[in-house]
Amino acid sequence: MKKKMYINGEWVDGEKYSELLSPYNQKKIAEIPIASEAQVNKAIQAAFKHKKTIRNIPAHIRADILLKVSTLLEEKSEEAARILVAENAKPIRAARVEVDRTIQTYRFAAEQAKQLYGETIPMDAAKGAEAKFGFTIREPLGVIAAITPFNFPFNLAAHKLGPAIAAGNTIVLKPASQTPLSAIFIAELFEEAGLPKGVLNVITGSGSLIGDLLVKDSRINMITFTGSLEVGKRIIKLAGLKKVTLELGSNAPVIIDKVKDLDRAVTKCVTGAFAYSGQVCISVQRIYVHTEIYNEFLEKFKHESEKLIVGDPSDDNTDISALINPKELERANEWISEAATNGGTIYSGGSMTSNYLLKPTILINAPENCSLVKEEAFAPIVVVKPFDSIDSAIEEANISQYGLQAGIFTDSMQTALKAVKEIESGGVHVNDVPTFRVDHMPYGGIKNSGTGKEGIKYSTEEMTEIKFVSFTE
Ligand code: SIN
Repeated sequence: MKKKMYINGEWVDGEKYSELLSPYNQKKIAEIPIASEAQVNKAIQAAFKHKKTIRNIPAHIRADILLKVSTLLEEKSEEAARILVAENAKPIRAARVEVDRTIQTYRFAAEQAKQLYGETIPMDAAKGAEAKFGFTIREPLGVIAAITPFNFPFNLAAHKLGPAIAAGNTIVLKPASQTPLSAIFIAELFEEAGLPKGVLNVITGSGSLIGDLLVKDSRINMITFTGSLEVGKRIIKLAGLKKVTLELGSNAPVIIDKVKDLDRAVTKCVTGAFAYSGQVCISVQRIYVHTEIYNEFLEKFKHESEKLIVGDPSDDNTDISALINPKELERANEWISEAATNGGTIYSGGSMTSNYLLKPTILINAPENCSLVKEEAFAPIVVVKPFDSIDSAIEEANISQYGLQAGIFTDSMQTALKAVKEIESGGVHVNDVPTFRVDHMPYGGIKNSGTGKEGIKYSTEEMTEIKFVSFTE
């Protein structure tokens, strides 16, 4: 089926098309337009021209539009979940969870549209300003370019579209080349919800050309990107003085101290490491376990992870399905071999079944300098290592170039507080895995995990400018 792009309130054909293949069986799902340079330009121009349209719409109406999108998505939630199954091979139960989260994310955004507060500034705190009255207001930035990843195509787009509209901005959305169907679907819902034309524009295609055109264009005021470190660095290089927020992933650590309830830690680590085949920026990738419970943990962790059902994403029983494309599967396998040939041991999994599937894989004794310890795996692979002291566990957790989220399981308040203080990351979860996220909490990394925060309140603020106003008596 030939799809269309959404530019200036119209559904437009591509000049060229590419085939969209199912990651699970490589069968053709749709034909996707590849936006030409002229079409990218049209989308930006529409967003630029309609800056005032959205800015002048009262907050309560922007909120109503967002709420309506949320309601429409709820009505069509099963259809939306099936889109995820098709385009990114997300197992259907996980796809339903993502759609439910997205419904809530748009609701949070609707609420946030009405909460764009400023503050009064006590002007008489400064000598010479006693006769002044000062306050701030928040204004939209203008045009936001949103570049979104394949792993949560509905919800991570909602984390950009929701706040952008809540704050009164226009948008050009470029979804990942593997997941355009969800972006097109959501544009249909915005149209049905009454969003004025030109406020949201969706352009599709692959390669860096479209991204580069967006990032360099002077009509765009902000780039919000979720994806790889490599692309994030390129954006920073090309964006000039535009505002940029980047969510670039990690190789998240979790520390498991001597805890009474080891089963809870095991269950959460299985989900945290293997949900959606580990293709989650906050997937558990490195587990550090207290030496006294190391063997017991390993045995239980292996036992539970081997229960996961690997297979067809449309099957209700499936826990794990295909990686996003064969190239990624090949890379994941190479990284397993690299660790194994340099002293690591494949404790569980490590092999493929048919249909581009990789079994949940646990590695022990992995060398410190191998890719699976240093880089982001984005695959169902986890390395497990024992530790003797909490200091050494924190040191290992911090070895990473990334710092998005981390977790620690402990029964000691003192240890928990030490970890909260000393772990270098944007979020620390005590008695949970780093994979925990709900959509109103602040979310964003330090070090090479990125810059800026998401979470509806925080990204809405990122998408506004503070204007200061003073009145003199
Ligand atoms: C991500 O992969 O960055 C998003 C994870 C989530 O929203 O749960």
